[in-house]
Amino acid sequence: MLMRRLSPDESPVDPAEAYAYPSPGLWVRANMIASVDGAATLEGRSGGLGGAADRHLFSVLRGLADAIVVGAGTVRAEGYGPPRPAPAWGSLRAGRSTTPALVIVSRSLDLDFGAPAFTEAAPDAPTVVLTAEDADPDRLRAARDRAEVITAGRDRVDFPAAFARLAAAGRPRLLCEGGPAVLAQVTAAGALDELCLTLSPVLGAGPAPRVLDGAPLPKPEELRLAHALQAAEDLPEEEGFLFLRYVRRR
Ligand SMILES: NC(=O)c1ccc[n+]([C@@H]2O[C@H](COP(=O)([O-])OP(=O)(O)OC[C@H]3O[C@@H](n4cnc5c(N)ncnc54)[C@H](OP(=O)(O)O)[C@@H]3O)[C@@H](O)[C@H]2O)c1
Repeated sequence: MLMRRLSPDESPVDPAEAYAYPSPGLWVRANMIASVDGAATLEGRSGGLGGAADRHLFSVLRGLADAIVVGAGTVRAEGYGPPRPAPAWGSLRAGRSTTPALVIVSRSLDLDFGAPAFTEAAPDAPTVVLTAEDADPDRLRAARDRAEVITAGRDRVDFPAAFARLAAAGRPRLLCEGGPAVLAQVTAAGALDELCLTLSPVLGAGPAPRVLDGAPLPKPEELRLAHALQAAEDLPEEEGFLFLRYVRRR
């Protein structure tokens, strides 16, 4: 059996082109990072896994998206603020809202509605709270004062229904930034189209979650490798990172 080398490969790639959404309709992409031994966090956060090239790609993927879906656990752990316009976006958002909208998934609505994620969002991309229909009424009122609210599903968010609502409201290109609990549920609901996985050249061990953290899927989700990229020579210290784009086999 022969194998094929993915790198080194001299051909340069523009990430904005390599990661262009493949269709104008609803498409759910996730972007996650893991250590070589599969940890989604180092000391409780993902930041220690990344590097300059990963941060650049993170930004480009945001620029390409209509909305960023993220779990309340990640918002609380990482102190998520609103997306801010970035130099890497260039003309990516021409004719679109200033930034993608931040969509925070929460059942409890235990969120700080006075935090920048709510108070400093771009006026044309207000933060959205995605929750269950039977969420606490007082907290729902507080959420509605500071954000758009979408309810879908009882007891917990029904992701396919929620994503269909976002698409119908003009936000079909979704970017899920985790965390692992949300991503496991999105995948279990059959709603994930694509996983962009950065493999970080580090080993962590310990009890860190994987990029999907939840019950075993009823049936393993089979993926096709769409591409594997490496940072170009302008970032030689980043060459150990792999940027893998997997698309769900239908
Ligand atoms: N490696 C990576 O790429 C990456 C990416 C993101 C985050 N992280 C790390 O992952 C950790 C946080 O991830 P996590 O898995 O603990 O949390 P998470 O997935 O970000 O958020 C979990 C929370 O989302 C809400 N939620 C999840 N499913 C729901 C549903 N179906 N309906 C309603 N609400 C739902 C709940 O919020 P309530 O509790 O408010 O009800 C739940 O507690 C942090 O350490 C962060 O640094 C790593």
